[in-house]
Amino acid sequence: MSGQRTVVITGGTGGIGFQSALGIAKTGARVLVTGRNRGRGEDAVRRLVEESGNDSVELVVGDLSSIAAVDALADELLGRAARIGVLVNNAGYLGNEPSTSADGLEMHFAVNVLAPWRLTKALLPALKAAGQARVLNVTGGDKPAAIDADNLQAQKGFKGLTTYAHSKSALESMSLALAEVLEPDGVTVNVVFPGRASTAMTGSMSLSALPGVMKLMYPLFRLMFADDGGKSAARAARSTIWGATTLELDGVTGRYFDTDMKEQKLHSTAYDPAVRSAILRLIEATEVNHA
Ligand SMILES: NC(=O)c1ccc[n+]([C@@H]2O[C@H](COP(=O)([O-])OP(=O)(O)OC[C@H]3O[C@@H](n4cnc5c(N)ncnc54)[C@H](OP(=O)(O)O)[C@@H]3O)[C@@H](O)[C@H]2O)c1
Repeated sequence: MSGQRTVVITGGTGGIGFQSALGIAKTGARVLVTGRNRGRGEDAVRRLVEESGNDSVELVVGDLSSIAAVDALADELLGRAARIGVLVNNAGYLGNEPSTSADGLEMHFAVNVLAPWRLTKALLPALKAAGQARVLNVTGGDKPAAIDADNLQAQKGFKGLTTYAHSKSALESMSLALAEVLEPDGVTVNVVFPGRASTAMTGSMSLSALPGVMKLMYPLFRLMFADDGGKSAARAARSTIWGATTLELDGVTGRYFDTDMKEQKLHSTAYDPAVRSAILRLIEATEVNHA
């Protein structure tokens, strides 16, 4: 594919997304970063242009926590870019308290699972137009873990970090399904794991986000996630930068790559058709209501 590739990075105005945007901008791509806050976003774009030496970095303001907001963000992105070579679904949510989205979904599921699915589907015309486009879904938690199909809405109780990690496992399984759906369109979908970083997300974690005996480790968490000026976020961005730029991923789809860019298996439940159906049923229910 010749010409400048356009790369969209959700949550590219801060944390790991910012460092990913920086690394990708250094390769000469046109980079569209999204974030909710215009002021923070404009500062981030200024820094990205300055530090990468690439003028083709732009801000698109938008939220991912409701269906209406995802659709509005997709419209804005499609207005800016007729061709999108890479979509990085990086923005994520980690909540200290139970919260429900405007559409009545548990907030981790809404931001970490539904939003990447819906945004990707909405941007499909631009992804197809780019040719050999790829989607990267940024996961979290520690390593691939079990998915409980009966707890996708935290029905069995909200447990902060555990609920967050569970939603990321659901994202992993959803990504396999999305990879299959988009295969006929020639668009690949893979999952990358950044590993730990000191960011706004980890900095905002309160004692209540830690489940059970993990609360004892709260002082250690505070130390582990102390502000380091973006150093750990830059390290964590490596898997996304690699995923967005490596030729090794041409035509590769439905895989998971760890912090060392090594392919690993997901938890067996991620491949379980019953689990996948439960996730897709929840997503499809929102599609019926927002046809
Ligand atoms: N940090 C870690 O240790 C870690 C570990 C494993 C995986 N991850 C994953 O890596 C990704 C990035 O994490 P991070 O720690 O860099 O997060 P972060 O610091 O919270 O990310 C900040 C970026 O996301 C945007 N953002 C946050 N909520 C948003 C929303 N609802 N809609 C749209 N944009 C939103 C922020 O801009 P605004 O505030 O202006 O909206 C900013 O651009 C996430 O998917 C996370 O789950 C992180």
